[in-house]
Amino acid sequence: MGLFEPRRPNENEEIVGSDAATRALSVTVVENDFVARVYENIAWFYDLTFGPALHPGRVDAIQRMGIKPGDRVLEVGVGTGINGALYPAECAVTGIDFSSSMLEKAHQRIARKGVTNVRLMQMDAQNMKFADDSFDIVYAPYVISVVPDPVAVTREMCRVCRPGGKIIILNHFRSKSRLGSWLEKIIAPFTLYLGFKSDLDLPAFLVQANLHPVSIEKVNIPRIWSLVTTIKE
Ligand SMILES: C[S@@+](CC[C@H](N)C(=O)[O-])C[C@H]1O[C@@H](n2cnc3c(N)ncnc32)[C@H](O)[C@@H]1O
Repeated sequence: MGLFEPRRPNENEEIVGSDAATRALSVTVVENDFVARVYENIAWFYDLTFGPALHPGRVDAIQRMGIKPGDRVLEVGVGTGINGALYPAECAVTGIDFSSSMLEKAHQRIARKGVTNVRLMQMDAQNMKFADDSFDIVYAPYVISVVPDPVAVTREMCRVCRPGGKIIILNHFRSKSRLGSWLEKIIAPFTLYLGFKSDLDLPAFLVQANLHPVSIEKVNIPRIWSLVTTIKE
């Protein structure tokens, strides 16, 4: 490269972009009230629409979590409790959600399945009532593109995770392809009514949430969902 030849950004720089710290994570903006209303409405059919299609990712996530006997696990946005029976019996799981309809389904499911190591609490993930460093693993499956402020939720997840513990996010993020990303931005205002934003920007989210993942793996089929694992320093 000549002395004054402009340096070409590498692929990673192009994706992250120089404005990653400030750019909007989605073309949409939502409030807690809106999200709560959507989930009150869709609770009755959630398992049919988001159950089997997203299940391989849930199974992979819990298998790769490395849960040890006695671990305290927090599931953020526990929904209908669809993950409840997947956790090993020797860990203690706390599941939080702010939707009473989703939690009602979760209570019914864990009773029906005889799951005894999962407790459920109604709570806003953006303002958790737990003390700092309360959990060994803090896991948010299919939640981070649902909440109004993903960075605030991640900050709370990091706060309640003990140093050396794991913060795990399972989610769909905006495609790296131009066409995919354009489509996901176009449909995002509509997917809100199904309970999620289709266009969450992963590189900008990681920068703004100050997350430095140890791994980002693709899960589900098609492999357009990511399992993002970070160790709290
Ligand atoms: C797409 S569902 C995921 C449910 C479940 N984790 C799963 O694997 O299917 C998202 C859940 O997050 C909950 N949620 C959304 N915003 C929340 C918030 N601010 N605090 C707590 N839960 C929230 C919704 O009520 C809903 O149950």
